[in-house]
Amino acid sequence: MSATVKLEFEGKIYEFPVITGTEGEKAIDISRLRQDTGLITLDPGYANTGSCTSAITFMDGEKGILRYRGIPVEQLAEHSSFIETVYLLINGRLPTRRELKEVSVLFNDHSLVHEDMQIFYQNFPRGSHPMGILSSMANALRSFYPELQAIEEEINITVVRLLSKVRTMAAMSYKISRGHKVVYPRPDLKYCANFLNMMFDTPVNPYQIDETLVRALDAFWILHADHEQNCSTSTVRLVGSGRVNLYAAISAGIAALWGPLHGGANQAVIEMLIDIQKHGSDYQRAIKKAKDKNDPFRLMGFGHRVYKAYDPRARILKKMCDQVLETLKITDPLLEIAKELEEAALTDDYFIEKNLYPNVDFYSGIILRAMGIPTNMFTVMFAIGRLPGWIAQWKESMDDPEWKLCRPRQIYTGQEKTDYIALDER
Ligand code: ACO
Repeated sequence: MSATVKLEFEGKIYEFPVITGTEGEKAIDISRLRQDTGLITLDPGYANTGSCTSAITFMDGEKGILRYRGIPVEQLAEHSSFIETVYLLINGRLPTRRELKEVSVLFNDHSLVHEDMQIFYQNFPRGSHPMGILSSMANALRSFYPELQAIEEEINITVVRLLSKVRTMAAMSYKISRGHKVVYPRPDLKYCANFLNMMFDTPVNPYQIDETLVRALDAFWILHADHEQNCSTSTVRLVGSGRVNLYAAISAGIAALWGPLHGGANQAVIEMLIDIQKHGSDYQRAIKKAKDKNDPFRLMGFGHRVYKAYDPRARILKKMCDQVLETLKITDPLLEIAKELEEAALTDDYFIEKNLYPNVDFYSGIILRAMGIPTNMFTVMFAIGRLPGWIAQWKESMDDPEWKLCRPRQIYTGQEKTDYIALDER
């Protein structure tokens, strides 16, 4: 007999089924709770709430495990490419050689963006944050390209369009912000190399593609590709549940990712490390500030809602930082500060007691700096990487016959009924 949970309320006993995931995680299915008992649950921040079942990504925060479609991210970061991982997430399995070739051809075919979109970029005020621009442009894509959601094949084209154009749009926004000529995608370059070339090639200074950086970018995007029901992914699912077009749902996801408690942390980490450097590399000062209850400062890139152990992505990125800087013979003083800060935090009672470990954002910025990516574009880099995850999760929700309009409830704590008072009598 399958397990159940009993709830006693006002003298009556109610029974709810327990559902078990592939890896043994358990949940109480309360979908009949309100109907049967009149009660709802209250769970600020949804820390105890499963919003869906999903077959895409498994993570175990206590053990520091992360797998896409069952495959550990460590293996993907070492052996796979970003495009292969995109395929895996969206289609549920690794592509064959032929399928991978077909995807590459499609990505090339859809890599250009409508020329009129450049006018949009030029009219954003100087100094606009690239995440605001990317979110607006993702939404604007719907006006330039038709919404083709009805047939599987057409959905796939919309998906390819988004994945391929997002990288062109990101590079374009950088070029325009610098007042440089836009560089178009090249058919002879693969996804990551093409992006770097669009970012850094100039007519007077041809970009030399460096395999170490290409490989690092592949791994960086693989490690960011999905992370189950995080803030931005839940946003994409929730916004998508109203059956809005995919571009709009992705635009909402980008906006959600922007926040410094979420994807915006990678920019905040570098800003924090630069600030520590300015204060004579006194990382203990940052630790003290982070522990001070009266100071809103937090150690950026530390802590995670789900991971109560070392984030496996941070472990890989830390190693990669060393490899990339060593191969390119770059010395970045921020890496030393980051390592010292990490060591100090990991041996400090405050961080030990609260299980605060480096997360994905702690070391990623050092790699992005080595590539020459400007700090205000770090979160855009995260967004490009997370796009396949958002799409896979959106697709899964759309294909789920049980998926409904997401509409949480609340416990009202405001005024009881009061009568309207005419303006003269107030
Ligand atoms: N520095 C100092 N203290 C921290 C930190 C931190 N980075 N993170 C958590 N804490 C403390 C909190 O002050 C709180 O202390 P209290 O119990 O005494 O009040 C306790 O640890 C728990 O923190 P919460 O905010 O309740 O935990 P939550 O799970 O909601 O937060 C979060 C997770 C938002 C990521 C948090 O750890 C944080 O703000 N980290 C810094 C920002 C960051 O790096 N975000 C990126 C996360 S990864 C990603 O989204 C891609």
